[in-house]
Amino acid sequence: MLDNKDLEAEIYPLKNEERKSQENLGNPSKNEDNLKSTPPQSQLSRCRTVAFFLSLFLCLFVVFVVSFVIPCPDRPASQRMWRVDYNTAVTYDFLAVDDINGDRIQDILFLYKNTNSSNNFNQSCMDEGFSSPCTFAAALSGANGSTLWERPVAQDVAFVECAVPRPRGSEAPPSCILVGRPSSFTAVNFFTGETQWHHASSFSRNSSILSPLLQVPDVDSDGVPDLLVLTQEQEEVSGHLYSGRNGDQIGLRGSLGVDGESGFLLHVTRTGAHYILFPCASSLCSWSVKGLYEKVTGRDGPFKKDSLWESMFNATTHRTLSHSSGAVRYLMHVPGNTGTDVFLVGSEACVLLDGQKLTHRWPPRAAHVLRKPIFGHYKPDTLTVVVENGTGTDRQILFLDLSTGDVLRSLALPSLPGSPQSTSLPTADHRSAFFFWGLHELGSSSETETGEARHSLYMFHPTLPHVLLELVNVSTHIVAFDAVLFEPSRHAAYVLLTGPANSEAPGLVSVIKHKVRDLVPSSRVVHLGEGGPDSDQAIRDRFSRLRYRSEA
Ligand SMILES: *[C@@H]1O[C@H](CO)[C@@H](O)[C@H](O)[C@H]1NC(C)=O
Ligand SMILES: *[C@@H]1O[C@H](CO)[C@@H](O)[C@H](O)[C@H]1NC(C)=O
Ligand SMILES: *[C@@H]1O[C@H](CO)[C@@H](O)[C@H](O)[C@H]1NC(C)=O
Ligand SMILES: *[C@@H]1O[C@H](CO)[C@@H](O)[C@H](O)[C@H]1NC(C)=O
Ligand SMILES: *[C@@H]1O[C@H](CO)[C@@H](O)[C@H](O)[C@H]1NC(C)=O
Ligand SMILES: *[C@@H]1O[C@H](CO)[C@@H](O)[C@H](O)[C@H]1NC(C)=O
Ligand SMILES: *[C@@H]1O[C@H](CO)[C@@H](O)[C@H](O)[C@H]1NC(C)=O
Repeated sequence: MLDNKDLEAEIYPLKNEERKSQENLGNPSKNEDNLKSTPPQSQLSRCRTVAFFLSLFLCLFVVFVVSFVIPCPDRPASQRMWRVDYNTAVTYDFLAVDDINGDRIQDILFLYKNTNSSNNFNQSCMDEGFSSPCTFAAALSGANGSTLWERPVAQDVAFVECAVPRPRGSEAPPSCILVGRPSSFTAVNFFTGETQWHHASSFSRNSSILSPLLQVPDVDSDGVPDLLVLTQEQEEVSGHLYSGRNGDQIGLRGSLGVDGESGFLLHVTRTGAHYILFPCASSLCSWSVKGLYEKVTGRDGPFKKDSLWESMFNATTHRTLSHSSGAVRYLMHVPGNTGTDVFLVGSEACVLLDGQKLTHRWPPRAAHVLRKPIFGHYKPDTLTVVVENGTGTDRQILFLDLSTGDVLRSLALPSLPGSPQSTSLPTADHRSAFFFWGLHELGSSSETETGEARHSLYMFHPTLPHVLLELVNVSTHIVAFDAVLFEPSRHAAYVLLTGPANSEAPGLVSVIKHKVRDLVPSSRVVHLGEGGPDSDQAIRDRFSRLRYRSEA
């Protein structure tokens, strides 16, 4: 058993040492005993000291080696700004971003139509069997704008979609699917520009392709998911199935017997049944992929139906009228607590629908939305949907909390017709930075600038809710825009594709990359309503210190 003193010694070892040494001082006669017992202990502590300093030294040495001697892996220098021009060309509303050359910097793919290719590559339309002018696809290095590859891909492009998702672990390179005019259906390797397959398209000349292309589970058992293309001709939607491996058509055209618009979703119910969900003649329609597959091939396929869904849609018209938000304009998938939910934008209201029962998750929120909403984070880690209520001078940007439908913030931001789509980028504080295009004169009534209309790019961050930062203003016609994190967790940049508004009148086509932070010092701070205590310079500093986060 331990006596009290020993117990105390266990708890306060230092105190005990102290007391012992005091005892020693008071009792010199006991010194000899102590001398006999101390040497092994002091040797031990000397050992400990040596071991401690040795490991400390080792640690410091490793730190030194890692930080100074071993050079950092070479990061290719990324230019903060570059611009590439193409004379007498036209371009398309299409920008795709991915790391094409493997330098860990995102690169840009776009399309333009030109008689000659740019000077970098001496290819002509004739090389690919097209007459001049034809459409080229060009991949530009995100680091410096140099051309990575460039090829004639079609006589003219009617529809293009890239980064068609691949099955996990698949070897197939990412591809872009191009539907050309007249009559071509091509898959191009995103990384090299090589044609993966090419067919004369089976779409009728008068039909238009509805977006997006849908990827359905492998139906021809070749291990690659297949493609479902929906077309519309004279108020009738048809489905066409193609092999994802070689583009061969599977079966024949299958008419859905309904009118429809772009904005299809391939929805998988909680029972694992595949349905296509789309806006049709003002309401919400649904067709089972099983039914479509049977119609196209005349055979039974690897799909099933969901009895609950079958009961929610009229079996002959395929539509439901129960959402009560007016004519359906947009449908978007949203991650929900128990699976994927559907965000529905109607002509009168928008609402979040349960992904299985299609019931409202919150009461419809009245708004006149004419543009496809975007998603972002207004509050940390909670998904926010950003809708534009109204257009032109009445436009209001609404940030809605997706879990409750509450309006978190409303910004009056007038815009010009045809202004580019808004976008958002995640920031390190688990919120998002938002980029909106609006009227240049916003908040500056003193300015008396006349002349052609100017679009301005505004930046907004939820931590500064009463401020918009006007980054840049542009008077040329913007064909496509995106805000991109070119390197993981580095600074954001915007990409602008400008060109002639009329595709019949070629002109100057430019691709511009500009780092956002470089624009902040010369930006204009627009105070919305109550001005905060911060000076403009303090606000610019806040925006320039913003750190971005790569999406998981
Ligand atoms: C296109 O290239 C040909 C020869 O490669 C040249 O003669 C012609 O002037 C070029 N046209 C334009 C518009 O640059
Ligand atoms: C490009 O031009 C060089 C010489 O001018 C020629 O050898 C080469 O074959 C050309 N490439 C193409 C794709 O036409
Ligand atoms: C541009 O960057 C690429 C890497 O992304 C590099 O290979 C190329 O040499 C650079 N070109 C110029 C002109 O700096
Ligand atoms: C295509 O449309 C035009 C006019 O809209 C019509 O005359 C023509 O018959 C249509 N062609 C087909 C194949 O439906
Ligand atoms: C489906 O719609 C058709 C045409 O509007 C209608 O005649 C029929 O009664 C509806 N069926 C059901 C089950 O509601
Ligand atoms: C959208 O704007 C209309 C007027 O244009 C207004 O009545 C409505 O309340 C707005 N919606 C929201 C959610 O603020
Ligand atoms: C917007 O355009 C005006 C007039 O060209 C210019 O003075 C101003 O500096 C521009 N603002 C920004 C933020 O670029």
